[in-house]
Amino acid sequence: MRKKIVAGNWKMNKTFNEAEDLLFDIADLLKNNRPADVEILVCPPAIYLELSADIAHENGFSCGAQNLSQHEAGAFTGEISAAMIASTGAKYVIVGHSERRTYFGEDDVLLAAKVSQALKHELVPVYCCGEVLAEREAEKHFTVVGEQIQKALFHLTAEEFSRVVIAYEPVWAIGTGRTASPAQAQEMHAFIRKVLADKFGQAAAEETTILYGGSCNAANAAELFANPDVDGGLIGGASLKAEDFVKIASSF
Ligand code: 13P
Repeated sequence: MRKKIVAGNWKMNKTFNEAEDLLFDIADLLKNNRPADVEILVCPPAIYLELSADIAHENGFSCGAQNLSQHEAGAFTGEISAAMIASTGAKYVIVGHSERRTYFGEDDVLLAAKVSQALKHELVPVYCCGEVLAEREAEKHFTVVGEQIQKALFHLTAEEFSRVVIAYEPVWAIGTGRTASPAQAQEMHAFIRKVLADKFGQAAAEETTILYGGSCNAANAAELFANPDVDGGLIGGASLKAEDFVKIASSF
């Protein structure tokens, strides 16, 4: 059975002390309220990865980075490699978040290289895809998402692909308070699974964890996660409050 995951993408938030407080608050809440069969993942800013991985592993949750370099090592000032991320104890890395695509010019060719680099170092890439509002209004959302999947993931071997997690994040729902309806989320997740089945086979597609992201919160998580093809969430704003985040993780 495919894995359920609730992941918090902290984005560029929290100072060191605030990050430490949030991690311990999450750990405390999980002591009394640990959802069964759900992997809980925090993705803090990279500077806190070692701290976060230590606290996460002591308390039964996981840690991931928000980005990685496509390069192995060398003269790339300011960049962080897959090997560095793995060496902190982090197990996951978000790849291709829409904010990376929009503000840092990351395209599918670059993201294909980043996915491969993550897998090379035994990190699980959480590959993000999703259409902008104009694309949905023009009814191009399936084409856009299908191409994002194809261009960044279809070069993988079956074994490599089996380690990938996908996050569908409609850009118009990110940080806007506007959520995809449960029906819209289900429709796109089922489409993504079909695209994956056509390339990697039905069994592989059935095993792939596909998360929803975009204004998912403690009030709407249950109806989103109730869909058969929604295997959890990638949570932004609501992951910055321990109570909300743990409540979302308990929404299956
Ligand atoms: P919000 O939950 O703040 O809309 O952000 C979603 C997101 O971008 C997670 O990666």
